[in-house]
Amino acid sequence: MTPPIPVIDPAAEYSGLKPEIDAAVGRVLASGRYIGGPEVEGLEREFAAFCGATHAVATGNGTDALRFALMAAAVGSSAVPGERPEVITSPLTFIATTEAISQAGARPVFVDVDPESLTLDPAKLDGALTARTRAIVPVHLYGQTADMGPILDRARRNGIAVIEDACQAHGALHAGRAAGSLGEAGCFSFYPTKNLGACGEGGMVTTARADIADRVRRLRDHGQSEKYVHAEEGYNGRLDALQAAILRVKLRGLAARNQRRRALAARYGERLLEMGLAARYGEEGRPAGAPLLLPVERPRGTHAYHLYTVRVPAVRDRVRAALLERGIETGIHYPIPLHLQPAYAWMGLREGSFPEAERAAREVLSLPLYPEMTDDQVDRVCSALRGILGRG
Ligand SMILES: Cc1ncc(COP(=O)(O)O)c(C=O)c1O
Repeated sequence: MTPPIPVIDPAAEYSGLKPEIDAAVGRVLASGRYIGGPEVEGLEREFAAFCGATHAVATGNGTDALRFALMAAAVGSSAVPGERPEVITSPLTFIATTEAISQAGARPVFVDVDPESLTLDPAKLDGALTARTRAIVPVHLYGQTADMGPILDRARRNGIAVIEDACQAHGALHAGRAAGSLGEAGCFSFYPTKNLGACGEGGMVTTARADIADRVRRLRDHGQSEKYVHAEEGYNGRLDALQAAILRVKLRGLAARNQRRRALAARYGERLLEMGLAARYGEEGRPAGAPLLLPVERPRGTHAYHLYTVRVPAVRDRVRAALLERGIETGIHYPIPLHLQPAYAWMGLREGSFPEAERAAREVLSLPLYPEMTDDQVDRVCSALRGILGRG
């Protein structure tokens, strides 16, 4: 029997880097410095350089990074007493994005996604901007930056901050600039399955603004401005040294690993088109009739392919089940848009509020993709799809 193909395989990455990672872990264990210290500072310097950011501040996870960056950008304070400030984001994301907005003291406000890239649609921003809007949090979904040109432009004209949710987009570029260096701050997750993943939890805030970096540093460490002097109440949101040391090893190979992700994505696209199973979005938008639609890469960007997510306009769940029967795992990112989650029932938003995000939730299917995946495995997934979709 052929071995199963997981959707993502963090253990395969460890196997390839075992000597370096084991040495880094041994070094930290022997040092006795387990929280903060030189490994964390080293990672902060190296990650800032990777993103072309002036500052990088490590946090306990990506949700901490978002919460602290939003607090540092003062999104929770309103000019009008008693009025709850608002932060705009996409409904097609992981709930951490909106948890952080609420926890920073603001109310999440959704704007539908662009039907092709599935990132926040800047054309729909005007309808959502109010006098209470304090920030926009574009989500760089699946490894591709949101349409940052018009988003940054609208934000600047309205005097509001842009905090990038770059948790899925380590190494993605927009017009030659890295995710995390585009807005007031960028927020990253090092959850084990991410393009840069820890062997546990981790996160990072990148920024060009010293005031934001300083406040994030304080918030992650119980509001301490110096030892046992607490300028404010903060959080325990620090990165540990073991994770930092492991991440430093993995960061060295990140650009090459992203390159491999892009090559695998290109192979998927070529095979699926050759087999007549898929179509690309064209000048006229969504093509009709194809069983699968390929992910859209925006022309001015470089996609980091955290996920290879196709759309299955009909029978997505049947295709998913049939792939699993053939030993091929897939994912759905995400099956329920945030505005329809029980946690946000209080917003009173019903089906039909954000039709593009809702349609995506019914159609998206993430195929296996990780740098250790072989070309043959990509071909096996494509052949399985051909069998399932009845085209040979
Ligand atoms: C888009 C997005 N935002 C935020 C997060 C939160 O990151 P973490 O799980 O590290 O808290 C994640 C990942 O889990 C994510 O994918």
